[in-house]
Amino acid sequence: MSFEFLDQKLETLIIVGLGKSKDLNKSDMENSIGNLIRKTVDQNEKISIMLPWELINSHLEINQLAESVRLSAYKDNRFNKKKDEKRVLKEIEFLNLKKFENINFEDTEKICEGVELARRLVAAPPNSLTPEEMSMQASQIAKDHGLEVKILEAQECQDLGMGAYLAVAKGSDLDSKFIHLTLKSEGPIKEKIALVGKGLTFDSGGYNLKVGASQIEMMKYDMGGSAAVLGAAKALGAIKPKGLEIHFIVAACENMINGSAVHPGDVVKASNGKTIEINNTDAEGRLTLADALTYASNLKPDSIIDLATLTGAIVVALGNDVAGFWSNNDDLANDLKAASAQAGEELWQMPLQKSYKEGLKSHIADMKNTGPRAGGSITAALFLEEFFDKEIKWAHIDIAGTCWTDKNKGINPSGATGFGVKTLVRWIKNK
Ligand code: BES
Ligand code: MG
Ligand code: ZN
Repeated sequence: MSFEFLDQKLETLIIVGLGKSKDLNKSDMENSIGNLIRKTVDQNEKISIMLPWELINSHLEINQLAESVRLSAYKDNRFNKKKDEKRVLKEIEFLNLKKFENINFEDTEKICEGVELARRLVAAPPNSLTPEEMSMQASQIAKDHGLEVKILEAQECQDLGMGAYLAVAKGSDLDSKFIHLTLKSEGPIKEKIALVGKGLTFDSGGYNLKVGASQIEMMKYDMGGSAAVLGAAKALGAIKPKGLEIHFIVAACENMINGSAVHPGDVVKASNGKTIEINNTDAEGRLTLADALTYASNLKPDSIIDLATLTGAIVVALGNDVAGFWSNNDDLANDLKAASAQAGEELWQMPLQKSYKEGLKSHIADMKNTGPRAGGSITAALFLEEFFDKEIKWAHIDIAGTCWTDKNKGINPSGATGFGVKTLVRWIKNK
C-alpha cells in the first residue's frame, strides 16, 4: 500500500510530536529526528522529512539539521558478519523547503564524511587501527584531496630529539608513525593553522597499568583526538577553504609494556630541550603531545588547536556530553565557542590556573608529567603549555568524555561520536 502526500508516494508516514512550538529548540528537533532515523534506517531506501520550517531561521541552521540527519543514519558493520551487506538507506530528502532558496548541501556532505571517518577510526579495534594503519589512512586522505604528506619514522623523530614521544612508543612491538599533512590554499596565504591530535592507538597505561575500573578494554579510543584531526583534514581537503595553510599533526603510537618499556621514574628529554620525569607512565598522551606541539610550534603557525582524550579527570568534571577546553587567547576561545555552538558540540572553558604549576615540579628534572589527582585535567593543560612558543594562540580540547557514547540517543548511535570534527571545520569556515 502507498499513499500520496505533498506529491510524494509514501509507503509509511510517521508523524512525530515535537511538543509545544514555543518550547522547541534546534537540539530537541535534532534529537527527535535522530531517534526516528536510527529506527527506520534499516527498512527504507529513502526517507523524506518535513519539519516545522517556520522555526528555522537560516541556511546555516538547515545545514546543521541536515548534518544531524545524515549522522544519525551512520552504521558501522565492518567488524561483524554483516560486513558485506549494502546499506538500505540511500537518500534523505527534506520536503517542502519552499521558504529557503538556493540551499546547498555540498559542504554538509563533506563535513559528514569527515565525521564518519573519525567515527570509523575511533571504533576500529587496536589490532586493526595500528599506528601504521593510521598513517596509511592519512596518506589516503592526502592522495584523495591533494594534501602534502610526511610520515616520520622513529629514527627521524630520534634525530629531531623527540625523547618524550619515543619514550611512550618504546614498550610497543609496533612502529610509531609521526604523521604530518599539509593543506595549502591556492593563492596568497593569510593565516597558518596547526591542528594536533593525540594518537594513542591503544593505552594500556604502561607499567602504571590500567587496572580495576579504568576500562583498559576501551582504550582503543585513545586516538579520538587524532581521529578528529584526520576527519577535519578529509572534510577541509574536500571543502578547500581559501587563504589558509593548515597542518594536521599526529604523533601516533601505542602505550604498552615490554622489557624496553619506559620505567616509572625515567627522565626523558623532549625536542624543545626540556626534561621530564615520568612519574606515571599512564600520563602518556601529554608526552606524545609535548613533541607534537614542539613540532607544530616550529612551523610558526598563528594558532594551534590540540584535541586529546587526555584525562579521566575531565570525565569526572564534565561528563560525556561536554568537552573541556583551555586557551591562552580570548579571541581564539570566543571563536571556538561560537564554532562549537554552531556545530552542536558542547565545549566548556576551563582555567589555566597558574598556581597549579607547582604540582608539576620535579626534584630531578625540569618537570614531572603528572601532578596531584585534584585538578588533574588542569595540570595536564599546564603541562602542554610548556611546549610551544608563547606568541602562538593555542587551545587544548580534552575529549576524553565526549569521543564515545553508550547512550544510542539523538544523532549518535552508540559508539564513536567523531567529536571535534564539526567544531574544527566550522571554526575554519568562519575565518
Ligand atoms: N587515555 C587516558 C585518559 C582517559 C581516561 C581517556 C578515561 C578516556 C577515558 C590517559 O592517558 C590517562 O591515562 N590519563 C590518566 C592521567 C593520570 C595518570 C594523571 C588518568 O586520567 O587517569
Ligand atoms: Mg594513559
Ligand atoms: Zn591515554
